[in-house]
Amino acid sequence: MLSRIEQIIPLQWLGRQLFNREDPAAFFDPLLEKLNPMWVRQYVPAQVSAIIDETADTRTFVLRPAARWAGFEAGQHVNVGVGIDGVRHNRTFSLSSSPFQWHSEGTVTLTIKRLPGGLVTNWMHDHLEAGDVIGLGEAFGDFRLPETSEPALYIAGGSGITPVLSQLETMADSDYRAPVTLLYFVRTQADIIGAEKLHALRQRWPALTLKIIATAEGEAPEHLNDGHLRQVPDIKGRRCYLCGPEGLMDEANRLLQEHGIYGENIHSTFFSVPTATLLSDGLGGEVSFSRSGAGVNSDGDAPLLEIAEAAGLSPRHGCRMGICHQCSCRKTSGTVISRLTGKASGPGEETIQLCISVPRGPVTLDL
Ligand code: FES
Repeated sequence: MLSRIEQIIPLQWLGRQLFNREDPAAFFDPLLEKLNPMWVRQYVPAQVSAIIDETADTRTFVLRPAARWAGFEAGQHVNVGVGIDGVRHNRTFSLSSSPFQWHSEGTVTLTIKRLPGGLVTNWMHDHLEAGDVIGLGEAFGDFRLPETSEPALYIAGGSGITPVLSQLETMADSDYRAPVTLLYFVRTQADIIGAEKLHALRQRWPALTLKIIATAEGEAPEHLNDGHLRQVPDIKGRRCYLCGPEGLMDEANRLLQEHGIYGENIHSTFFSVPTATLLSDGLGGEVSFSRSGAGVNSDGDAPLLEIAEAAGLSPRHGCRMGICHQCSCRKTSGTVISRLTGKASGPGEETIQLCISVPRGPVTLDL
């Protein structure tokens, strides 16, 4: 016969699982995921409703997020979570559709290019099918449209067009009257992402001037130069939006400054960490992880996220480029250098972003 203690332990255990957990969803989700993946609570599930080929290496995934998803503003990013071989991976992508589509049809789109060696992008291209469910985070990012209609210039390169597609479509749907010019740089005509959408926008929205420059076609390569900017009427009065590879962004910033456009009139969004030049002297050091008890020596300009992963830890993260703040973590001592700005932190306790922080000397993290 079971003792009194033996009789109550299972009840206590069940009670703890059901009521005392910090996150009950963590307990129920594996079961719900099997019954219906759209019922999970730990993240917002989004069902793939269609997949559209854009170019040889870029596809648009049309998603139907659960109704509790909070929506987004044109130009924002989301973290996407997928399970690959039993391990959950998160990556950040920008939404390429307009918020109007989310409100009217309940769908959003992500336009994703395969990255050479990219685990998640290649998996999405090779394995995702209509009907599958992936996880969607809440939208974030300050690459946003102005509150009132004002002249704008977009300079985009390659897959940097994705948040721009979202913004242009939103402007067209909100009767944005001020002139808008898009300079879109691609390698060849076959690499134009969103070609159909762009041409449709040009047809229905007279305020838009669209110029697509195929840099690898023609007799000589044609990259962004001052001639392109001189063709933009009243360029000095335009709000400028940049999105693309680092080289294009740097050149665009330099040329715009020559036209007297600076600071808050230039909005940029990045697809990789824009690295400040870090003086290599003194970078690296002993990194201690106080909660797990792990410790590792680092060398050179590796960021703390990579150092922690190399030490066998799995810190929470999303974009790996300093925009989503999911990797924010408490540093309890030591100095780190920001890969974005090249600036040093203070030596004491503060919150840092692991993906863009490089240790300079010994550092202790609450991990
Ligand atoms: S992972 Fe997104 S800010 Fe670090």
